[in-house]
Amino acid sequence: MDIKKVTVAGGGVLGSQIAFQSAYCGYDATIWLRSEASIGRCQPKLDRLCEIYLQTLEAMKKDPEAYAYGLCAKDEVEAGHLDELKQQVRHAYSLINLTTSYEEAFGDADFVIEAIAENAEQKTAFYTTVVPYLSQKVIVVTNSSTLLPGQFADLLPQPKQYLALHFANEIWKNPTAEVMRQAKTSDKAFEATVAFAKSIRMVPLKVMKEQPGYLLNSMLVPLLNAALSLWAGGVGSVEDIDAAWTMSTGAPAGPFRMLDIIGLTTAYNIMVMNPKAKDPASLEALIVKKLKAKIDAGETGVSAGKGFYTYSE
Ligand SMILES: NC(=O)c1ccc[n+]([C@@H]2O[C@H](COP(=O)([O-])OP(=O)(O)OC[C@H]3O[C@@H](n4cnc5c(N)ncnc54)[C@H](O)[C@@H]3O)[C@@H](O)[C@H]2O)c1
Repeated sequence: MDIKKVTVAGGGVLGSQIAFQSAYCGYDATIWLRSEASIGRCQPKLDRLCEIYLQTLEAMKKDPEAYAYGLCAKDEVEAGHLDELKQQVRHAYSLINLTTSYEEAFGDADFVIEAIAENAEQKTAFYTTVVPYLSQKVIVVTNSSTLLPGQFADLLPQPKQYLALHFANEIWKNPTAEVMRQAKTSDKAFEATVAFAKSIRMVPLKVMKEQPGYLLNSMLVPLLNAALSLWAGGVGSVEDIDAAWTMSTGAPAGPFRMLDIIGLTTAYNIMVMNPKAKDPASLEALIVKKLKAKIDAGETGVSAGKGFYTYSE
């Protein structure tokens, strides 16, 4: 399928990144926003991304450790193409179109990426409203982290051209794109989405059936929960639990280092939603209590300088 125009619905943390990366990789990128106020909030995100892309390219000149897969191939760094790539960043930045018009955003879009708030009712309202503006050929994907695409497929005129494309935050350096089909997704739309992901310098990971948590979180969440249970239950120390994982698997970080990166508030919010945490006698309730004490003490993770570990500047 020939994709030229990519429209991202929602220009928050992820929507702005996806649009910027698509523009950087040569697509005609538009961000649809629901109000002028949303445009006002999105523009500074794009300004910041432009700076980050330029600074990352500059850093890559001097430091191979600064390499970011989403920006270029390693041999382009070696071949000294970084100044051309900086031009490409500025060009992309200048071309991204922000609009509140459905007609302008979706009328001739080839590929639509829905990245609005993680709320089923709001996503439903968005799909319902956008339908009259979509062309027959368009592929629509959702970036939802927790809602399954099958839940929304029948709202669209072409359920076979609807699926999930799930990015990770900071996509220029965390380039996984989980491509997940729902029961009605056609092979053609699935493969076109895989090809699109590659074309914006992502590494597509194919999820062949609906799975809450996709591939990564299906593995990561149980690991982190097991580590928290061992800690809260007094079975092992943070350091020993991490060492058990890193020293036996060769992984660079253990579950508590990962929790510090993700942020303890996110871990807390997920654990609070666990129905077992409602029972005050449960291990889950104890995890909630212990995480809350750390959050109340300002120990929320790497970004706060302290979580399970202490971080210097
Ligand atoms: N933040 C992450 O790390 C991350 C990672 C992967 C996937 N996601 C997913 O991406 C999606 C967006 O997440 P985010 O972190 O960018 O959120 P965000 O809150 O930063 O941005 C949401 C955007 O959607 C717009 N919006 C909110 N409600 C809307 C509505 N009812 N109609 C139209 N637009 C609306 C907001 O104006 C904003 O532009 C979610 O589905 C989330 O699960 C987020």
